[in-house]
Amino acid sequence: MTVIDHKDIREAARIIREGGLVAMPTETVYGLAADATNDKAVARIFEAKGRPQFNPLIIHVAGAEMAKRYVEVPPLAETLMKEFWPGPLTLVLPRRKDSGISLLVSAGLDTVGVRMPKHELAQSLIQAVDRPLAAPSANRSGSISPTRAEHVRDSLGERVDMILDGGPCPVGVESTIVKIDADKAILLRPGGVARESIERVTAKPLSSAHGKIEAPGMMTSHYAPEAKLRLNAREQKDGEAFLGFGGVRGGGPATLNLSESGDLAEAAANLFAHLRALDRLAAGHGLKTIAVAPVPFEGLGEAINDRLNRAAAPRR
Ligand code: TXA
Ligand code: MG
Repeated sequence: MTVIDHKDIREAARIIREGGLVAMPTETVYGLAADATNDKAVARIFEAKGRPQFNPLIIHVAGAEMAKRYVEVPPLAETLMKEFWPGPLTLVLPRRKDSGISLLVSAGLDTVGVRMPKHELAQSLIQAVDRPLAAPSANRSGSISPTRAEHVRDSLGERVDMILDGGPCPVGVESTIVKIDADKAILLRPGGVARESIERVTAKPLSSAHGKIEAPGMMTSHYAPEAKLRLNAREQKDGEAFLGFGGVRGGGPATLNLSESGDLAEAAANLFAHLRALDRLAAGHGLKTIAVAPVPFEGLGEAINDRLNRAAAPRR
């Protein structure tokens, strides 16, 4: 259980109302939060992350009621909100004309991504500010998402006005992003809510945004560690660090396991912290490649494989 320090929340809320940036824990990863209705504050997010301006941000709300002030909510979206909020599901919905959300948040699109985080600290902060918070993952653009306060410190340092430390993020991969187009649900990014769980509710297969970069931030090379990644490795070769899963283990000084018992939720929670730690260990031992054991594609495995593939993609 996180013990909430109300003094910290009050201070964080004051910083955000004055246009500052606060790193807040969510159940998925740490977010770099600013007042979504303040253009200058939102611009500071892009600057702090080194994020391209064509890549839109998602907003974090206190609940469906707050969401409805900013986006149109068709019945299918309402159903998904009821089922999965609060939690790691972001819904991309048409922007309301009278929405006071900064245009920078949508990066020129006529939609806004909205989510209600489950983490107590994130919820308390949104309620204290009483405005929607724009928040991308709190890392420099293109690098690994932070799942601990020290990751934020390492990546953003003085660029952020305050870091709320809520310990490690329990889910560990970012939210699932689903675009709602009338009565169609399209998966833009696999994440903390498994595809199967959504399909159980919609009673239809979730279509994917094939080819087109539908979530503009989903560029292939992302989450990049320094070392090269070799995926689906059944064994460790000479000169490699190893990231194991279940019974597929490595040895030597630079070896970690995502989940000894082969549990995908545990693997997701460990993924980014293990990649960072192994990257450091590999560098320390002069190893240029991290071999990664196969991870099954079902449930949270889809999101884990997505992030591993991006981390392994050629750099741009
Ligand atoms: O779990 C999460 O979603 C975390 C925590 C902090 O909430 N946030 C997060 O934000 O991962 P970010 O900015 O790192 O990733 C959001 C993704 C980006 O790839 C962006 O392109 C996409 O969402 N996105 C945002 N608004 C969109 C929109 N209107 N249409 C399509 N894609 C959108
Ligand atoms: Mg990100």
